[in-house]
Amino acid sequence: MENLMEKIISLCKRRGFVFSSSEIYGGIQGFYDFGSLGVEMKNNIKRLWWQKVVQERDDVVGLDSAIIQNPNIWKASGHVERFFDLLTECKSCHKRFRADHLVEELKNSGKLDEVGLYTEKEMKDITKVIEKIKCPECEGKLIPPRQFNLMFKTFVGPVEDESTKTYLRPETAQGIFVNFKNVLETQRKKIPFGIAQIGKAFRNEITPKNFLFRTREFEQMELEFFVKPGEDEKWFEYWVKERMRWYVEVLKIRKENLRIKVHTKEELAHYAKACVDIEYKFPFGWGEIEGIANRTDFDLKQHQKFSGQNLEYFDEKENKNYIPYVIEPSCGVERIFLALMCEAYQEIKGGRTKTTKPTKEVEVLLKLDKKVAPVKVAVLPLLKSKKELVEKAKEIYQTLKPHFVCQYDEVGSIGRRYRRQDEIGTPYCVTVDFDTLKDSTVTIRDRDTMEQERVKIEELIKILKEKFENV
Ligand code: GLY
Repeated sequence: MENLMEKIISLCKRRGFVFSSSEIYGGIQGFYDFGSLGVEMKNNIKRLWWQKVVQERDDVVGLDSAIIQNPNIWKASGHVERFFDLLTECKSCHKRFRADHLVEELKNSGKLDEVGLYTEKEMKDITKVIEKIKCPECEGKLIPPRQFNLMFKTFVGPVEDESTKTYLRPETAQGIFVNFKNVLETQRKKIPFGIAQIGKAFRNEITPKNFLFRTREFEQMELEFFVKPGEDEKWFEYWVKERMRWYVEVLKIRKENLRIKVHTKEELAHYAKACVDIEYKFPFGWGEIEGIANRTDFDLKQHQKFSGQNLEYFDEKENKNYIPYVIEPSCGVERIFLALMCEAYQEIKGGRTKTTKPTKEVEVLLKLDKKVAPVKVAVLPLLKSKKELVEKAKEIYQTLKPHFVCQYDEVGSIGRRYRRQDEIGTPYCVTVDFDTLKDSTVTIRDRDTMEQERVKIEELIKILKEKFENV
């Protein structure tokens, strides 16, 4: 669909899913606020992940560690020394770019020979490549790339110096590694087992872009799954399959919009032996929504070395100590949110609502999976002017509220109200009409088929619950 991203951004703002952060002050690049619908949808995504990765399994437990941690953690993890991007800047317009992104764009443009670069080897020398290309904005000269650490710095306590400096976590994973022994001892887990965490992470990205795709503050859902060395490759394969299944079977993302990308040696993070990305076909191209990495024993070994604490595991069956290997499926809530929006967004020209005449208008239908939809049920009196209908509808709304996220709406024609609910993906609308007053029945309108089913009010909760269970 043309301009799909613009349409989604506009819908997100218009209906209260996502706002630019600090908007009344002119915004702040790379940060977003989630409105009342956005937070419901985000919570649904997190709940579905937690349910699959933690709740339904015997071999995974949860954790919620602090965002600000002892700075030595980031020295041990390698983030202080190695978590950087290459930054370049235009000498004329002073716009900043990620050097590797410019190189990637050049590779994709098929214009390598125009700048005099022919071989893979030449392409690997980023400084040389940047020397040969021009600023994409103004064609000015670019300065040689320099390393830029992506961690946000802060200070703990009132004195701001090197001894009080620490960082906002760039990944939730380290909070898990440093609690490995605590969890092991308190939960009596045996390898293989995992620790899962959902939480905010922060990266001072050089160029935040593509709406929720590359932001400076985001939420991660990470699992660190500890395994016996030598069994890591088997578990790596297992988690790649398992996570792919979640996207297709639980989130109902179309298979053709997902693919697996294997990292080359050059693309691997400093801690990984192997990594694959699960990518989604966004309107701006394929983009990572989840990375699954084999982190080996890198992190635990580093923490053992830097903390001086023994982080070995005693394997009773083998009667020996070892540092386990780790398989890490790690995904970003906002990226999944954006993928689900892209998946669900539809426009119907001429209108689809039976109760309104066909119009030239374009109706938006957000075909979100029922489990993901922010509002589950809308309660609508047929007419606002009829007091009895309004009172009955409000009464029904109150009875549904403890069971479902509901909205009550009495403003505008019934057709317009159905359209408003279609636009935010509400699976069911319950309408209170004149028959309701006679025989205590209401209609349930299905978002996707627009069919209406008449049911007894006393059975409404049970019937709606069944509809949400059968997905
Ligand atoms: N823990 C992996 C990542 O943050 O990319």
